[in-house]
Amino acid sequence: MWRMNRLCSPNRPCTLLLVAFLQLAFVLFLYRRSQAGSFTIALYEEDRVGDWDYSKTHDVYTNLSLVTPSPDRQTLSSCPDESPLLVGPLTISFQKIPVMSKIARKNPYVQAGGRYTPPHCKAQYKTAILVPHRNREPHLRHLLYYLHPFLQRQQLQYAIYVIHQTGNRTFNRAKLLNVGVREALKDEDWDCLFLHDVDLIPENDHNLYICNEKYPKHVSSAMNKFLYRLPYKTYFGGVSALTPDQYLRINGFPNTYWGWGGEDDDISARIYLAGMKIIRTPLSLGHYKMISHNMDVGNEKNEKRFDMVVKVSRSWRSDGMNSIDYNLLHKEEFPLYTNITVDFGNSPNVQAKVN
Ligand SMILES: *[C@@H]1O[C@H](CO)[C@@H](O)[C@H](O)[C@H]1NC(C)=O
Ligand SMILES: *[C@@H]1O[C@H](CO)[C@@H](O)[C@H](O)[C@H]1NC(C)=O
Ligand SMILES: *[C@@H]1O[C@H](CO)[C@@H](O)[C@H](O)[C@H]1NC(C)=O
Repeated sequence: MWRMNRLCSPNRPCTLLLVAFLQLAFVLFLYRRSQAGSFTIALYEEDRVGDWDYSKTHDVYTNLSLVTPSPDRQTLSSCPDESPLLVGPLTISFQKIPVMSKIARKNPYVQAGGRYTPPHCKAQYKTAILVPHRNREPHLRHLLYYLHPFLQRQQLQYAIYVIHQTGNRTFNRAKLLNVGVREALKDEDWDCLFLHDVDLIPENDHNLYICNEKYPKHVSSAMNKFLYRLPYKTYFGGVSALTPDQYLRINGFPNTYWGWGGEDDDISARIYLAGMKIIRTPLSLGHYKMISHNMDVGNEKNEKRFDMVVKVSRSWRSDGMNSIDYNLLHKEEFPLYTNITVDFGNSPNVQAKVN
């Protein structure tokens, strides 16, 4: 009692002490939970086929000639659970940059806006692919060349959206994705949103572009850039997949990360704070080839989960889908994709990063 009195005298109010104590307790609580939760336990989906031999590959347009429109669109039966057209590992080369008209010719059933509905069976899933973009036309052409036939062999209904940032403000991948999600959901009641970097090409068509019903899925779990392993445990960059419901539960992505990287840890923290875990495509299936460019490669981030969880616990409810503000300049249907152009303005932090 005597001690308490001394600590809580009128000039040393114990409310301060109490607040400090509660903060410490909260931080410790989050830290313990994060250790027990999604940050250390990696959940992986199962690879039903397994044991892939990536030295034996097939052309990415294999089997597509087998797809012929059914004469009667009204009575189409449902596409099978597992597409018979899949071939496994794919041949990928970035030697020649394909031209758009050639890609369009090779994909005769793709419709304006980069939309596709299987002409021979009723798709079981509807997936929107969202690609943040600025000044990477050659990468985009590679991606379209490989992704269209890849998705058609999976017998999905899909559309590819390219979300293009104009203005000279620093690139903001996460905010572009928020815009893409909002605009894509105006077009269609998508089952699944694939958030896709423009420079990553999937190497195995059994890596299905559908969502996990329960948890946000990290799909590019094995990139050649990282020697086909995860760079660090909370990594959520590259390619990931969320249902619209999961995306809204985490309030989307932060709008406040300008420049490359930095937002991944925030997103992992949001997933966990919203009471979910991350599930991953197994390493055997999540193989991706990165189209090389001039960014420094050895510059990976450290795990900063402790800082991030504390910081994001204060920001995630107010910074995201519910606070997004953008100027939509165009939404235009190109033959192989829908081009959404947004302007995030110039200042405050104009940088000379050319990306
Ligand atoms: C798809 O192509 C592979 C490889 O050429 C072949 O083995 C398989 O039989 C084809 N699938 C169908 C349904 O024809
Ligand atoms: C999208 O449209 C804008 C405005 O018309 C254009 O500047 C930009 O190059 C287009 N982007 C792509 C990837 O087609
Ligand atoms: C880039 O930003 C600066 C500062 O806001 C602005 O004055 C300039 O006109 C912008 N340049 C271009 C090419 O948009």
